[in-house]
Amino acid sequence: MSCVVVIGAQWGDEGKGKVVDIYTKQADVVVRYSGGHNAGHTVVINGEKYVLHLVPSGIMHKEKYNIIANGVVIDPSALIEEMEDLKTKGINFTGRLFISKRAHLIMPYHKIFDKFSENKKGSKKIGTTGRGIGPCYADKAARVGIRVCDLYDDEVLKEKIFQNVEEVNAIAKNVHNIETLDPQQIYDDYRKYADILSPFISETSYLINRLANEGKKIMMEGAQGTLLDVDHGTFPYVTSSNPTTGGAFTGTGLSPKFLTNVVAVTKAYTTRVGSGPFPTELLDDLGEKIRKIGNEYGATTGRPRRCGWLDLVAMKYSKMLNGIDYIALTKLDVLSGLDKVKVCVGYEYNGKILETFPPEIKILENCHPVYREFDGWKEDISKVKVYDDLPQNAKKYLDFIKEYLGVKYALVSVGTDRTETINLNEVF
Ligand code: GDP
Ligand code: IMO
Ligand code: MG
Repeated sequence: MSCVVVIGAQWGDEGKGKVVDIYTKQADVVVRYSGGHNAGHTVVINGEKYVLHLVPSGIMHKEKYNIIANGVVIDPSALIEEMEDLKTKGINFTGRLFISKRAHLIMPYHKIFDKFSENKKGSKKIGTTGRGIGPCYADKAARVGIRVCDLYDDEVLKEKIFQNVEEVNAIAKNVHNIETLDPQQIYDDYRKYADILSPFISETSYLINRLANEGKKIMMEGAQGTLLDVDHGTFPYVTSSNPTTGGAFTGTGLSPKFLTNVVAVTKAYTTRVGSGPFPTELLDDLGEKIRKIGNEYGATTGRPRRCGWLDLVAMKYSKMLNGIDYIALTKLDVLSGLDKVKVCVGYEYNGKILETFPPEIKILENCHPVYREFDGWKEDISKVKVYDDLPQNAKKYLDFIKEYLGVKYALVSVGTDRTETINLNEVF
């Protein structure tokens, strides 16, 4: 019995794609449980780069099952495009890619409302990916969402689309004064998507529990990151789902009793895309330098990522929320060449030191990080395969993080490629 959850410990883009691809070798099944095509997960194999948005990052391993579970919101046109792209690259997934009947569908009006509501917010905008994620989850919570299984009942599909579009059009016309939508056109398009996707549709909650009961090794692939969690993150500057460990079980239907280990993917520093508080952000030349060296531009939207030091206050919070056993620390190579490297070990607020991550945005925005400083290292570490071969100062940095958090390292990543990895502990 073995289920490993791989989550993002920070604000997303920690390198989950690379880590999931590495552990797929030992797993039988890889499952995406939350988010949608707001995610961009990069896998690099022999120099060839794949960016996955909805399809799990285990898909490159022939014969492994990959499941898009109920907690994911699916834009069928984006999914079909991604599947086409994978086929073009020679990846065959027939018979091993499964899509939950219970997953909710992103509809054209979700994308329109996502962009519109962002524009309306002006300087207070969240900086969403504009993919319709928030409005789709809102419809799910409001119980008017359309699910994958609805695609296969013409009567239900038509009724739901026509009913929703009637309401959407009333809001579009009377409140926002924007163009209305043609429900028949949407119905026709979604019927076509249904035909293309039908070989992959499944009751995945039964499938995944059956596989787990047969002793198959299950890996849950988190999207986004802990601090973007709608319940536990920097609300309202968050996404609309639960990327944390708990979301892996509501988002798949797998019994939580199968959980064996939680692996948190964490950059050796911190990045964030979009708006919201970021206590350790570097707004100076150093931040720009890290962005350049780390190639910190979004895999989904191409937006520059905000960069800063590793925040251990946030990481402790993340450890508590997720039950982290192991850290997969990525992008250590990006820090090579810096004179000094810092980590945040406390927040100073109004003359007091906070050691917990505050829920109030105003407090978080006005926290001053308390840093612990380390000497840097100059060596190129991208070819290092064994922990002991790392420069002494890099090891001091890593050891401090590990001891401060009370975790073990699963791996340390020193480059984009699958092979540019120092493997330390088995997670399955
Ligand atoms: P994800 O959303 O968590 O899967 O992460 P992304 O794919 O959005 O962003 C991570 C980026 O860092 C990708 O471009 C990866 O190829 C790259 N990356 C991952 N690990 C490393 C590493 O150890 N070193 C360097 N230099 N790049 C890495
Ligand atoms: P992966 O899985 C980084 C951010 C957006 C925005 C906020 C809300 O690649 O780590 P949304 O479109 O979800 O309503 O946007 O969340 N965001 C991400 N940031 N990585 C991601 O995914 C993200 N998915 C959403 O930038 O700030
Ligand atoms: Mg990403």
